[in-house]
Amino acid sequence: MPAPQRLALPDGAVQVWLLADAQVDSMCARLAHTLAPDERARAGAYRHARHGNGYIARRGLLRWLLGGYLQCPPEALRFAVSAFGQPVLQWPQAGLAFSVSHTDGIALLAFARDCRLGVDVERRAGGLDAPGLGRGVFSAAEAQTLARARPDSTDALLALWTRKEALLKALGTGLSGDPTAYTTADDERRGTGHWRASHHGIAISGWTCLDLDAGAAFRAALAVSLPDASLTCQRCALPDPPRNTLRYT
Ligand SMILES: CC(C)(COP(=O)(O)OP(=O)(O)OC[C@H]1O[C@@H](n2cnc3c(N)ncnc32)[C@H](O)[C@@H]1OP(=O)(O)O)[C@@H](O)C(=O)NCCC(=O)NCCS
Repeated sequence: MPAPQRLALPDGAVQVWLLADAQVDSMCARLAHTLAPDERARAGAYRHARHGNGYIARRGLLRWLLGGYLQCPPEALRFAVSAFGQPVLQWPQAGLAFSVSHTDGIALLAFARDCRLGVDVERRAGGLDAPGLGRGVFSAAEAQTLARARPDSTDALLALWTRKEALLKALGTGLSGDPTAYTTADDERRGTGHWRASHHGIAISGWTCLDLDAGAAFRAALAVSLPDASLTCQRCALPDPPRNTLRYT
């Protein structure tokens, strides 16, 4: 866990933090007090305490890291939510982009300056390519890519899915835009792990689009509107909380 005063985010850099579910309890104990009343209310509204605690840990870590990058107390940050559900920094307005994604097992938090940024992670699961999955989300070209990968198409499906969600989160619409208008595909020119995106067949240029290695159980992708962005991924770890620490449930 970095000391906030040591966090630096150079221009052109993307930093991704990985939070494993095993860290959620200690993260909650340490960071729950930094959440705003509406965030506590949202955490309390989850049916299962496990999910509420996951949200507290993610939001607490988001505040902690943003506070570090912006050199301000985590609890002083104020968020607004866009019409499409994207959380954005209301104060301070510092041109710092962030994106959060979670799935059963881990969460990813990505940060970069003065850009659009999206990250997505999904747990790998077998037999995912049910007929119709991806309809209304994948473009015709992506549907063809998927068809070529069958019968063993789970990985191709997850690659397309995470890339599409990362892109649409960077654009801010999420899936409520027109996902089928966008196509993602391997970028052979740049090499393994790179992908490219287009809108109605017109290349989206000046972006860095990458698959992320989040561990064997997961598939993850990131899209950022910066050319040749440099990427670092770091795993968050906190020591066990001291005994008798109150935990928000
Ligand atoms: C954004 C979306 C792609 C998330 O997909 P998901 O795989 O279910 O969830 P992920 O864990 O990857 O991402 C969730 C995070 O995405 C972020 N997010 C939500 N909407 C977003 C948007 N439109 N653009 C960018 N990021 C968004 C939030 O940080 C959220 O985390 P939080 O719930 O802890 O605040 C999907 O929920 C979506 O398309 N939402 C927009 C459509 C919608 O229903 N809007 C409702 C209007 S309020």
